[in-house]
Amino acid sequence: MLKAISVAENIWWVGVNDRKTHLFENLWSLPYGVSYNSYLIDDEKVALIDGVKAEFFGEYLERIQSILNGRPVDYLIVNHVEPDHSSAIRMLRQVYPNITIVSNKQALNFVKQFYGESASTKEVKDGETLDLGAHKLTFAAIPMVHWPETMVSFESTTGIVFSCDAFGSYGALNGGIFDDEMDMHVFTAETRRYYATIVGRFSTNVQAALKKASALPIKMICPSHGPIHRGEGVAKVVALYDSLSRQETTKSATIVYGSMYGNTAHMAECIADGLRANGVEDIKVYDASTADLSWIIRDVWRSKGIALLSCCYNMGMFPAMFPVVEKIDNCKVSGRVLAIAGCYTWSKGAEIKPLQELAAKPGWDLIDSVVEVKSCATEADEAALREVGAQMAKKILA
Ligand code: FEO
Repeated sequence: MLKAISVAENIWWVGVNDRKTHLFENLWSLPYGVSYNSYLIDDEKVALIDGVKAEFFGEYLERIQSILNGRPVDYLIVNHVEPDHSSAIRMLRQVYPNITIVSNKQALNFVKQFYGESASTKEVKDGETLDLGAHKLTFAAIPMVHWPETMVSFESTTGIVFSCDAFGSYGALNGGIFDDEMDMHVFTAETRRYYATIVGRFSTNVQAALKKASALPIKMICPSHGPIHRGEGVAKVVALYDSLSRQETTKSATIVYGSMYGNTAHMAECIADGLRANGVEDIKVYDASTADLSWIIRDVWRSKGIALLSCCYNMGMFPAMFPVVEKIDNCKVSGRVLAIAGCYTWSKGAEIKPLQELAAKPGWDLIDSVVEVKSCATEADEAALREVGAQMAKKILA
C-alpha cells in the first residue's frame, strides 16, 4: 500500500507520479514524467485539495486511505478543473458519496460540463473562508492562470498556499516532495519549460496574481505539479515566476530553422558564428524538424535574441516552422531582438512571408537586414548572415 507523505501537521501529500505519459496535454514532452499533487487536510472536516488523473485513482486512494482508515472525505476543493486534476471526480464520488465539491461558480459549471456532476456542491466567493476545524482555507481567484476559473487556497494557520498549476513543474517526484530534499537543477529547468508551454501566454495575469499573493504571509507553496517549495525555496520560486512573467531575458540567442537539404541550416550556422564572434556565449540552434517544440519555446522565452529561418516549400514557409511561429505568436513573446532569413530556389518571398507577418507585430526589435538566399549561400550571403549575427550580438549585449 502506498502511504501519504506529511507536509505539515495533519496536512498530507496524497499525489501520484506519472512516468508513462509521453506528452503533457498530448503536446509537451515529459522526459522526466510529471506528478499530479493532491493534498489532504485531516481535521474535524476532511478536505482533499485538487485531484489526480483518473487512471491513477488506485494509487491515489491508497495514499488517502493510509490516513483516513475508512473515514469519509467531506470536501473536494477544486482550484482548477483541467482534467489532469479533476478527472477522478466521478470515482471519488463512488467511494465517498457524501463528498461536497467546493469551488467558485465558474469552476462548478465546468465540473458539470465535464462530468455532469452538479449535486452536493458548495460555491465559494473570492476571499471566502472554509472552516475545517483547526485549519481554515481562504480562496483567492487568480483568473487566467491559466484558465478563467482558477483559484488558490490559502491555509492561514500554517501559511500554506495550495497554488495548483501556478509554480508548478514538469518532472515526477522521486521520493522526496520538498525542494530542499532534491536536486533542483532539473526541476528549475522544467519549471521554466512548464511556464513557457502552459502559462506564458497569460503572463499579465500571472503578474496580477503575484501582486495579490504578495499580501499573504506565505510560508510554503504546494503546487499541483512538481516539488513543494518551503523555506528559501518560496522566495526563489516567486522570484523565478516574477522574472518569467515579466519576460526577463538573458544575454543569449535562440536560432530555429527549417531546412530540407541543409542550405538553410548552413545559414543558421553563419548567424550563430556572427553571434559567437561578437561576444554572445549562450547560443542554442534548433532544427525545427527534429527539435522538441517545448525546448524551443523554453529557450525562446529566456533569450534576448531570436533568429528564425526557413527554406521555401510548396510556395510557402517550411511546414515544421509553422508550429514554432504559431507558438511564439500565441505566447505573446515580446521585447526581443528578432532576425529573419529565408532560402528559395524559384519562389522568392513565399518562404519568408509568415516570418515577416510575425515580425510586423508589436514587441519585436527587428534586425534590418533580412537575408534571402538563392538555393545555396554564396560567400557574400555568408558574410551578410554573419553581419546579422553581429548586429544581433550588439543589441543582445547592449
Ligand atoms: Fe495541471 Fe491546467 O492543469
